[in-house]
Amino acid sequence: MSKEIKVLIVDDDQYGFDILEEILADDCYVLEQALDGVMALEKMESFNPDIVLLDYVMPRMDGLEVCKHIRANPDFKFTKVIMLSSRGESSERVKGYGAGADDYVVKPFDFDEMSAKIKVFSKLKFVEESDRALRQEKEEQASLINQLEHTKDKLMQADKMASIGQLAAGVAHEINNPVGYINSNIGMLKEYMVEIFQMLDAYEKAEDLVSPESEQMKLVMSLKKKLKLDFLRQDIVDLMNESEEGVTRVKDIVQNLKDFSHVDVAEWAWSDVHNGLDSTLNIVNNEIKYKAEVKKEYGELPLVECQMQQVNQVFMNLLVNAAHAIEERGVITIRTGCEGDWVWVEIEDTGKGIAAEDKGKLFEPFFTTKPLGEGTGLGLSVSYGIINTHGGRIDVESEVGKGSKFRIWLPVHHSQGAGNVNEKMYAGQE
Ligand SMILES: Nc1ncnc2c1ncn2[C@@H]1O[C@H](COP(=O)(O)OP(=O)(O)OP(=O)(O)O)[C@@H](O)[C@H]1O
Ligand SMILES: [Mg+2]
Repeated sequence: MSKEIKVLIVDDDQYGFDILEEILADDCYVLEQALDGVMALEKMESFNPDIVLLDYVMPRMDGLEVCKHIRANPDFKFTKVIMLSSRGESSERVKGYGAGADDYVVKPFDFDEMSAKIKVFSKLKFVEESDRALRQEKEEQASLINQLEHTKDKLMQADKMASIGQLAAGVAHEINNPVGYINSNIGMLKEYMVEIFQMLDAYEKAEDLVSPESEQMKLVMSLKKKLKLDFLRQDIVDLMNESEEGVTRVKDIVQNLKDFSHVDVAEWAWSDVHNGLDSTLNIVNNEIKYKAEVKKEYGELPLVECQMQQVNQVFMNLLVNAAHAIEERGVITIRTGCEGDWVWVEIEDTGKGIAAEDKGKLFEPFFTTKPLGEGTGLGLSVSYGIINTHGGRIDVESEVGKGSKFRIWLPVHHSQGAGNVNEKMYAGQE
C-alpha cells in the first residue's frame, strides 16, 4: 500500500502498546499513543487517524465511551475502530459493536491475524473515502451540467429574441411609411368626398331648372338609378370609416413592433413604481373587475430610474393577460419587493396556466392562443422589449389548471442594466 496509514493506539498499559508497535513495524504505518480515553479524543482531533486500536477498560473514560464519541463526530465517519479487550463474552462484544466499533478482538490475539485485520480495515476506509469523493464529484458535475444547460437555454432564448427583434424592427420600418401615407390619404379623401357631395347636392337642386324631357336630364336620371346614388353616398362614408379603422389597427401593430424592438427612445426618470401600478390598475379596472379580485401585497420600494410610461404598459399587458387567463372568477395578486439594487413586481393569477410547450414561445411576436381576432400576440413581446431596454428580465412560472406568475426584475439605476447582454440586441435598426 503506497499511502501511509495512521494508527492511534489507545491503551493505558505500555506493554499493550509495545506489542502493537511491534506488529505495526512497517514504514507504511504512522503511530500515535493515547494512555486513556480523554487523551484518545484529543488525539483524534490532532492526529485524525485512519484506524483506532481501542482498549476496552481504561481510567477516566472507557473504550465504549470513546467509541461512541468517535461515531458521533461526522469528521470521523470513515475512521475504523477496532476494540481490544480481554472480555470475550458475547454480551461484551454486543456492547462494543453497539457503541460503533467495526471489530471486536479478544486478547490475547494472534499477531498475524491482527496485522491482516488492520490492513483490510485501512483498505476499506480508503475505498469508502474515495467512493464518497467520487459521488460528490458526480453530484457536482451533474449540477454543473444542469447550470450549463440552463445558461444555454437562456442564451438561445436571448439569441432567438434578438433575431426576432431585428426582423420586427425591419418589418415595422418597412410598413411605417406606406401606412403613414395611406392614413393621411384616407383623411384627405374623406374631406374631398364631403366636398364632392356638397357639389352633388348643388347639382341636384339645379335639376328642377332643366326640362325632364331633355336628353341630358334623361341620361342623368338613368345614371342615378343605375348607380344607386343614395346607396353610394352612404356606402362611401362607411367604407372610408372602415378603412380608417383598419389603418389605425395596422398603426398600433407597427407601434407594438417598434416597442418590442425598442426603436423609439423615451425619457428616463426616477419614478414611483407603486404609483405606476396603481394608475395602470385604474385604467384596466373595467377589464378585470368582473373576472378577478385584485390583491395588493406591496413591499418597500425605492424610486426606480426607468421609463415609467413604458413600464406601465408592461403592467397593463400582464394584468390584462392575467384577467383573460381566468375563465370564471379568480384572484390576481400583485406583489412587489426589492433585493439589493433590484426591484421586482410580480403579477400572479389563478387562471388556466400555460402549457409546457407554449412556455418557450410566449415572448415571440404574434404568438397567441386566443381565437382569431381576439389577441394579436404582441402584449408579451412588447413587454419583453421594454424590460430588456431597462436591463431587466421577466421570469415566468406556471402550472396548467392552477395559474401563472410573471415576475419583472428592474435595476434601480438605469446604468446598472447597461451591461445586460440583450440590451443592445436590436442596435442598428432605424
Ligand atoms: N397570465 C397568463 N395565463 C395564461 N396564459 C397566458 C398568460 N399570459 C400570457 N399567456 C399566453 O401567452 C400568449 C401571448 O400573450 P400576449 O400578451 O403576447 O398576447 P395575447 O394576449 O394573446 O394578445 P394581445 O396581448 O396582443 O392582445 C397568450 O395568448 C396566452 O396564451
Ligand atoms: Mg396579451
